[in-house]
Amino acid sequence: MQPDSTQPPIQASTVVRNIGQLVTVAQQPIAGASGVLQVISDAAIAVHDGVIVWIGPDDHVELMFDSDPTSEDDGITIVDAQGVVVTPGFVDSHTHLVFAGDRSEEFHLRRAGLSYGELLTQGRGILTTVNATRSADTEMLTEMAITRLHTMCQYGTTTVEAKTGYGLDMITEEACLRILNNLNALETSLSYQYMRVRVVPTFLGAHVVPPEYTERRSAYVDLIVEEMLPSFVGLARFCDVFCEREAFSVEECHRILARAKELGYELKIHADQLSPSGGAKLAAELGAISADHLDHADDADLDRLRDAGVVATLLPGCSYSLRSPYPSARRFIDRGLHVALATDFNPGTSYCENMQMILSLAMSSMGMSIEEALQAVTINGARGLALHEEIGSIEVGKRCELALWSIRDYHEIGYHFGVNLIQSVLIVS
Ligand code: NIG
Ligand code: FE
Repeated sequence: MQPDSTQPPIQASTVVRNIGQLVTVAQQPIAGASGVLQVISDAAIAVHDGVIVWIGPDDHVELMFDSDPTSEDDGITIVDAQGVVVTPGFVDSHTHLVFAGDRSEEFHLRRAGLSYGELLTQGRGILTTVNATRSADTEMLTEMAITRLHTMCQYGTTTVEAKTGYGLDMITEEACLRILNNLNALETSLSYQYMRVRVVPTFLGAHVVPPEYTERRSAYVDLIVEEMLPSFVGLARFCDVFCEREAFSVEECHRILARAKELGYELKIHADQLSPSGGAKLAAELGAISADHLDHADDADLDRLRDAGVVATLLPGCSYSLRSPYPSARRFIDRGLHVALATDFNPGTSYCENMQMILSLAMSSMGMSIEEALQAVTINGARGLALHEEIGSIEVGKRCELALWSIRDYHEIGYHFGVNLIQSVLIVS
């Protein structure tokens, strides 16, 4: 491909040069790219106002731009990728980022034979974290969330969906939503100046019934539907529910999600995680953006999800932590669903910020190829947040949110495991 000298030069504020292997995950064919992941060797990317304006061979850069981008003072910032692999930044589309306390004691009790469900019905599990979170102040919750976000970013994540669900009262749920919204302003903080990780807030008031409502659970559902949902419009993009025997019934979830939809929230469901709960069916009926977990979803559920265009988000960190069987990603992919992978970062079932770990588990234990797994942590994560027009792949017109790896061939991903292969992320604004 030769640059066209008759075209006007492209305007760019940043050019990323010397990319050894650019794994675009593009959804449309790109000139000079090959394979499922649309990979280009020796590539460069030009960016203007945070949006990718050009992708091409590195040796065409000088000819494509108004001024010589290799000179220091022409206003174009040059980033030298030094020949490494570059992929889209990870989109971690399912996390529970804001909470206080830890549950290591329960982790070890589970090693000794207790189940997650048993702990939950004993008033432990999520409720332990609710107690700790209600007792923590906003400053402390914010600091802890920042530290976790920082770790996620160091492991390659550039967008994080984050749920409430450890407050379960008006005041604490709202405080957690405000913390999540404020995290998007982090770029002003000097100590985190390279971090412009996007946080997508989700309201999960229906996580479990809080202790003060145990004897009158329908009053808690009323509180969510009549007070929390209307008050939190504009603070959360998604409404999620935990549809499970130990949490909320299909009928309760339906009532909450139907009201959320009327109010303009997009929908997510923790579905069929511990037992066949009916959550997947509900997700399809209500047109949720994603149904998450799905360990116990049957084939009919999968067909419903596919037909309704619901993204299946699989969370292998839970199988690892709960020592439950890993769902087979093959089953979902072979039935034509879009599969996303996410950390489900939380103190109970998946205390892990690291999307590379999730990639490794999906390849070692869920039957995914490197190509499928990389799509699942980028473009399909973006689909799970309805952000796939904006992020999740490296294409002209999309935001420039990149992961720079310390490797020269993407086939090393999953093969070289247990270490951080990410050098840095680059989010151009
Ligand atoms: O996605 N299942 C519900 N919520 C979380 C666990 C939360 C917790 O145990 O604190 C999950 O696994
Ligand atoms: Fe979760």
